[in-house]
Amino acid sequence: MEAYAFFRNEFVPLAEAKVGIVTHALNYGTGCFEGIRGNWNADEEQLYLFRLAEHFERLARSCRILKIQLPRPPEELCALATDLVRRNGFREDVYVRPLAYKSSEVIGVRLHDLEDEFALFAVPFGAYHEIDKGLRCCTVSWRKVPDLAIPTRAKVTGIYVNSALARTEAHEHGFDEAIMLTANDMVCEGSGENIFAVINGELVTPDPSQDILVGITRASVIRLAREELGIRTVERPLARNELYVADEVFMTGTAAHVTPVLEIDYRTVGDGDVGPITQKLADLYFGTICGRNKKYLDWCTPVYPPGTRLPAKEREVPVGIQVSDLAD
Ligand SMILES: Cc1ncc(COP(=O)(O)O)c(C=O)c1O
Repeated sequence: MEAYAFFRNEFVPLAEAKVGIVTHALNYGTGCFEGIRGNWNADEEQLYLFRLAEHFERLARSCRILKIQLPRPPEELCALATDLVRRNGFREDVYVRPLAYKSSEVIGVRLHDLEDEFALFAVPFGAYHEIDKGLRCCTVSWRKVPDLAIPTRAKVTGIYVNSALARTEAHEHGFDEAIMLTANDMVCEGSGENIFAVINGELVTPDPSQDILVGITRASVIRLAREELGIRTVERPLARNELYVADEVFMTGTAAHVTPVLEIDYRTVGDGDVGPITQKLADLYFGTICGRNKKYLDWCTPVYPPGTRLPAKEREVPVGIQVSDLAD
C-alpha cells in the first residue's frame, strides 16, 4: 500500500510531498509542529490516536505565537489526521506529524508578509526509549532556551536545535537522555520529555514558568495520578540536587510515554529499580492510550469504523525516513 501525506491541500503520495530549498521555514526554523501517537490495539483491531484534539489545539496556539494561519480549525484538522492515518491502513503503532510553516521562498528573517502552509504525514513508530531498561541521564551544559528568547510553550521547529544539542551531548557522554536546566540552573526538561520526581509520596514537576513545553502526556499523567492513585502533583521550580535524592524519577512525552529514569549524573535514583509509583502510572498510561481504560476513552480517537476489515500486511517505514529522527 502506498504511503500518503496531506500536502498543499490534498492527499498525495508521501514521496511527492517536497519543498524547495529556499523555503523560509527550512532556512530560519519558522514552523510549528506536533507529534501525535496512534496506538494499535490488536484485540480490537483498532488504532487509537491519543489526545488528538489537545494536540491540534496546542498547534493552533503555537501558530498564533508564530503568526501562522492554519487552513482549517483544529476540529477539522483532527478529522483530516484521522482520514490520513486510515488511508495509510496502518495496523501498528504510528506517529502523526502535523507541520505548519512559513512557506514563502524568500530571503529575509521575519514572521510577517510570508505565505503559510500546512502538511501532515504519518509513519510507523515503535518504542523511542528502552522503557523496560529505564534511562541513564545526565544534566548537560546547554541550557533550555528561555521563554523570552523563543516562547517555550510553542512547539517551534527552530527551538529543537536546543534539544538536539542537548541530546547529542548526553549521547556523546554515554547517556541515554539529557536533562536540561533553565538559564537559572533549575531543572527544566529532557530533550523531548517533561520530567517528574517522586518526593515524599507526591509528584513534583517544574511548573510552566520554568521554560518547559507544557506536555500533553504530562497533563495526562497528572490527572491519572490524582484520579486513579490519589497522588497529588506539585508544580514548582525543582533543583537539580532534588533529583539526586528523589525516591523515583520518570520522564513523560508523546514519544517517550512514561519512562523511568534510573540514574542521573552517575548517581542511582532510589534503589536503582523502577519505583512503585512510576510502575503504576506507566501501567495505567499504557492501558489508557490503547483504549483499554473506558473512563478515558474520550482521550482516544478510533481511526477505523468498528467492524472494518483491515489489510493483513503491516506497513513498512517509507524509504528515506528514519523513525528515530521523528520523535518528540
Ligand atoms: C521539549 C519537549 N518537552 C516535552 C515534551 C512532551 O510533550 P508531550 O507530552 O505533549 O509530547 C516534548 C514532546 O513533545 C518536547 O519536545
